[in-house]
Amino acid sequence: MSEDERTLRAPVGDPVEIVPCPDGPLLVRGPVVIAGATGPGVERGRRTIALCRCGLSTVKPFCDGTHKLTGFRA
Ligand code: FES
Repeated sequence: MSEDERTLRAPVGDPVEIVPCPDGPLLVRGPVVIAGATGPGVERGRRTIALCRCGLSTVKPFCDGTHKLTGFRA
């Protein structure tokens, strides 16, 4: 998937907000598309999502709470 294809598929409407949680994930609110690196995008499933920032989640790109167990600091 090219960058142009990802841009064209991005929904429009409400603004997107990305908030870094202290020592935790990035909370993403709003109409975004999560594109796959080499294939189809990742299904969001809900309006607000938490994206892993520590790199240790078993359900990447989403946070699964593992950062709390490892003492991740941002
Ligand atoms: S930020 Fe939560 S598991 Fe990585």
